[in-house]
Amino acid sequence: MRITVIGCGYVGLVTGTCLAEVGHQVVCTDNDAERIATLKAGVVPIYEPHLDALLTSNLQAKRLSFAGDAADAVQSGEAIFICVGTPPKENGEADLSAIDNVARLIATEAHSSKLVIEKSTVPAQTGQQLKRVLSVYRRDPSVEFRVASNPEFLREGTAVEDFLHPDRIVLGVEDKDSEKQLREIYRPILEAPRGKTKIHCPVHLGGCPPAKSPELVVTTINSAELIKHASNSFLALKISYANMIADLCEKVGADIKEVVRAMGLDPRIGPQFLNAGLGFGGFCLPKDVQAFVRLAERSGVNFGMLKEAEAVNKRRVDLFIEKVRQALWVIKDKRVGILGLAFKANTDDIRFAPSLGVIERLLAEGAQICAYDQEAMDKTSAIFPQVEFCREPDHVARDADALLILTEWPEFRQLDWKRVYDAMSRPLIVDGRNLLDPATMTELGFEYHGFGRPLEKPQPQLVPSVMVGRSSSAVQQPRLAT
Ligand code: UDX
Repeated sequence: MRITVIGCGYVGLVTGTCLAEVGHQVVCTDNDAERIATLKAGVVPIYEPHLDALLTSNLQAKRLSFAGDAADAVQSGEAIFICVGTPPKENGEADLSAIDNVARLIATEAHSSKLVIEKSTVPAQTGQQLKRVLSVYRRDPSVEFRVASNPEFLREGTAVEDFLHPDRIVLGVEDKDSEKQLREIYRPILEAPRGKTKIHCPVHLGGCPPAKSPELVVTTINSAELIKHASNSFLALKISYANMIADLCEKVGADIKEVVRAMGLDPRIGPQFLNAGLGFGGFCLPKDVQAFVRLAERSGVNFGMLKEAEAVNKRRVDLFIEKVRQALWVIKDKRVGILGLAFKANTDDIRFAPSLGVIERLLAEGAQICAYDQEAMDKTSAIFPQVEFCREPDHVARDADALLILTEWPEFRQLDWKRVYDAMSRPLIVDGRNLLDPATMTELGFEYHGFGRPLEKPQPQLVPSVMVGRSSSAVQQPRLAT
């Protein structure tokens, strides 16, 4: 099928590239000319595993192309996916101006009938407005527009796998033709796990696990729109719930890891999204929760529990800074090493990342910061030029008075923690993601603080450098206490 994708951000790029990968003829467009030029040259401007390889191979196969002229792109597709941003306004509502612009563009430029599909996350009833705009601004009366909602459930870092091996595909439609056309678009993906159609998925690139057949859920447009907001808001509720349990664990001397492991074994609860720590960030969960609260308010429903989940999340950075302050006493002039800047592992995205709030607060208090992240250092240095960035993760430990873990990159677990211990001025770790094992760290001689983990006293096996007055370069091996 000939498909047009409008918007080349995370969602648009993954959608366009993956639809080309499963055999469609895809044209992507964006109003950022520089981005289009970069993409035409085969360079992916974001970090998303597998995306660069798939984009290159589909450009070469001529199934995928990028168009600077949006009108051309609109004219070429039978189906048009709208993947533009819906950022939060000051009051938390979703800003739908980009959707409105695209709708007017389609209405004026289309010379043939189109299926217009909302992929961007939008509040319920946006589809109804979209239909109105398309019909009001339609230039050619012979052109027919049908509207559908097909929300994305793509996690950054695994977006390609999520697209090609989804657990569900939601189709919000109001007529049989739209449903038929969308089923056809997704047929290769729906049939692939049952082996009927071969799709070149990133399995060959060392990627995704075998998935079960995705569930196709056909609903009304309003329901499809609501499903997306309700899903992300539920995930946010789950994380904030786990964070409150972690706070309680600290008070009563329980261990959050033990508690959520046992809770998650109940299939009604499930094990995922119960990791306590610095809370949720990124460009989806925080803005979707806000937009859902505002939608509920405008509809006369007080979604108090969701407001509380948002408030709990906002307090996580305060709590974290308080842990750092309690351990360090005075933050001013302390050298603080930071591991992890991205809002979660496997992405370079720092939008609404808790790390930003942590860095801002530490700088305001006069700390010197040295930070490392596999992918997100360039983006962070643009915001905080006064932060020093290290090429290797363990370099942030050099002469540091504290080491803070802000992103759950699994690689951080594998660091040579004895070397890190040796390099630090004071062996203090505040783990905002509960990534490390408190007992192991304590055994190594660190003072370790996580969220909701029982406090362990450092074992007197290794002598912290401050006690022996060593400099980081002078002492290579941890010493045994006498
Ligand atoms: C989310 C949804 O998961 C996805 O389905 C949707 O379509 C887009 O929004 P994403 O923003 O990529 O995906 O991130 P996600 O994996 O959901 O994580 C969100 C945040 O929650 C991250 O900051 C993560 O660190 C945090 N998190 C996640 C926790 O704090 N604890 C957990 O247990 C899980």
